[in-house]
Amino acid sequence: MSEALPFDEYLELPNWRARTVDIEAYKRFWRTTVEDFVGFWEKEARNLEWFRPWDRVLESGEHPFVFKWFVGGLLNISYLCLDRHAKSWRRNKVAYIWEGEPVDGDGRPLSTRKYTYYELYREVNRLAHVFLSLGLRKGDRAAIYLPMIPELPITMLALARIGVIFTVVFSGFSAENLAIRVNDLGAKVLVTADGFYRRGRLINLKEVVDKAVESTDVEKVVVVKRAGNEVSMKEGRDFWLHDLLRTVPENVSVEPEPLDSTHPLYVLYTSGTTGKPKGIIHDTGGYAVLLNSTMKWVFDIRDDDVYFCTADIGWVTGHSYIVFGPLMAGATIVMYEGTPDYPTVERWWQIIERNGVTIFYTTPTAVRMLMRFGNEPVQKHNRSTLRIIHSVGEPINPAAWKWLFEVVGERRCPVGSTWWMTETGGILISHLPGLMLTPLKPGTNGLPLPGIDAEVVDEKGVVAAPGQRGYLVIRKPWPGMLGPPTGMWKEPERYRQVYWEKVNGVFFTGDYAVKDVDGYIWVAGRADEVLKVAGHRIGTYELESVLVSHAAVSEAAVVGVPDEIKGETPVAFVVLKSGYQGGNETAEQLIKYVRETYGAIATPSSILFVSKLPKTRSGKIMRRVLRAVATGGSLGDLTTLEDEAAVDEVKESYEQLLKEVRRGR
Ligand code: WT7
Repeated sequence: MSEALPFDEYLELPNWRARTVDIEAYKRFWRTTVEDFVGFWEKEARNLEWFRPWDRVLESGEHPFVFKWFVGGLLNISYLCLDRHAKSWRRNKVAYIWEGEPVDGDGRPLSTRKYTYYELYREVNRLAHVFLSLGLRKGDRAAIYLPMIPELPITMLALARIGVIFTVVFSGFSAENLAIRVNDLGAKVLVTADGFYRRGRLINLKEVVDKAVESTDVEKVVVVKRAGNEVSMKEGRDFWLHDLLRTVPENVSVEPEPLDSTHPLYVLYTSGTTGKPKGIIHDTGGYAVLLNSTMKWVFDIRDDDVYFCTADIGWVTGHSYIVFGPLMAGATIVMYEGTPDYPTVERWWQIIERNGVTIFYTTPTAVRMLMRFGNEPVQKHNRSTLRIIHSVGEPINPAAWKWLFEVVGERRCPVGSTWWMTETGGILISHLPGLMLTPLKPGTNGLPLPGIDAEVVDEKGVVAAPGQRGYLVIRKPWPGMLGPPTGMWKEPERYRQVYWEKVNGVFFTGDYAVKDVDGYIWVAGRADEVLKVAGHRIGTYELESVLVSHAAVSEAAVVGVPDEIKGETPVAFVVLKSGYQGGNETAEQLIKYVRETYGAIATPSSILFVSKLPKTRSGKIMRRVLRAVATGGSLGDLTTLEDEAAVDEVKESYEQLLKEVRRGR
């Protein structure tokens, strides 16, 4: 919090077109929206085109804390993203500008593609036709395992059009992680690609799929040809997309299915503290309303904007703010296949310059990585079109914020840190350049959005004093929240326990936060055993399960240690089975094993071999001890022991473990 100083010099933005208001004015308005949040969201919902209006705005579902928004309303999000624009002057407006990663000798992208709204509409209709002919119907499930290519949003929209519930699995996940998700959802069809490019390397995606589908009930695999790499196609199961499309008439139209507002649009899996990943369900109507409103308030999206979000569609940011949000808004969206440092660290600035990007949505980890290379790679490229910058995924440190503000945005663009999570569906706390811009402060998330009752409280739900750390909670339902029928796919009980029991009756985010005297919220990080590694959410439990599945490992415990660029990285404490030796070679083997079994995003920064894990008498791992040893830090204040251990016991195991780890090095 020492960094939480208001910077008066950032209050006035030259040439800024929105009204900058004082904090109290916003809060007065905000209070009215929260007091009548049902009436407020009903007004917002009227901005969408519904096939049939709702009968009731908000209702309780069959399970506790599963809420139904806009009950009785009928709509289709692919209609809102496509048909509406295809019928308007926007039909020839560019929807997507896509850039592949590989470049030619002059550093120019080897392949780019552009889709107008009408072209996108046509492609989605043709693909929806393909899915129908494969036998998919409303309520069925499909999985998508695609890289950042235009076929990814096209597939999502085509499935949404016919009411098929889909899950997108991040293309960096392993076969194991893919299979877990496909099986949990019960997907019959899987859409994938032959391969793609990442940091100059060709990744063979189909190979991973072949391994994964063995242990699933997937009947059909649709394969997009992206990289042209050699793949094996299993007769009767695998189909090239271009073959399936060959027989589909160019002008085929598939009517958008009129779906209940509460119909699940997709399930997205995310990590929790225990067990398998949680399948977060998002509905259709509430989700569409939240995205439509946040596109205006947070991004101030307008028809002359060129919008570039650097996330991967495999995560919720991409679902909401590369696909459904900006398409509903009729925006021109830049989509990039690869990494920001390929072939050089100028790649994003080139993309911004080449396309005249006006709105830039990125992540703190990437900013910290790019900052290391100084200002020159940025300043070589024209960024005069930029007008709004936001980051997401993890707290942004003031130094990274200032670099975005001063170097990238040339002190012209408001820079924000939008807080939300997979579960919330869309942004809930942010600066609002499109509505009322309150004074900026480097590193804060800002004030809660209209209609969003976000608070910082203690475990009893009592509001924390300004400057005091507490839990971030949402005290009223919001559209876009985890949806019917069960909030979490097939797990209504877990849904209730995880989100509604920690602080009685309010939505528990799992984050620590502080509210300052102005009411600005500063999210500090996770309050549970979940890591944020380069913004990616990874459960320590998941990594521990992977490690103990290795033949050499008897026990494992993973903690997060601070990292200058990634925010946090996993460090694993490992107890080996007898007969196995520690040392560098074993450590490397285990790291490789984690990468292959989980995915590269979870690569531990180090593996420490110990003879036993520090545990309390009741068998709970003393994570505080592990963290102190891993960071070389102190044990901290032992008067607030989180793990019911005696102070002496903690100190003793700390000393012991420290000695052991030092010896091992
Ligand atoms: C967790 C959710 C929301 C899209 C990407 C992440 C952290 C997210 C911020 C921010 C500080 C943030 C929280 C949250 N987080 N945005 N602007 N400032 N922390 O979605 O993978 O579901 O992760 O990311 O810890 O709980 P996710």
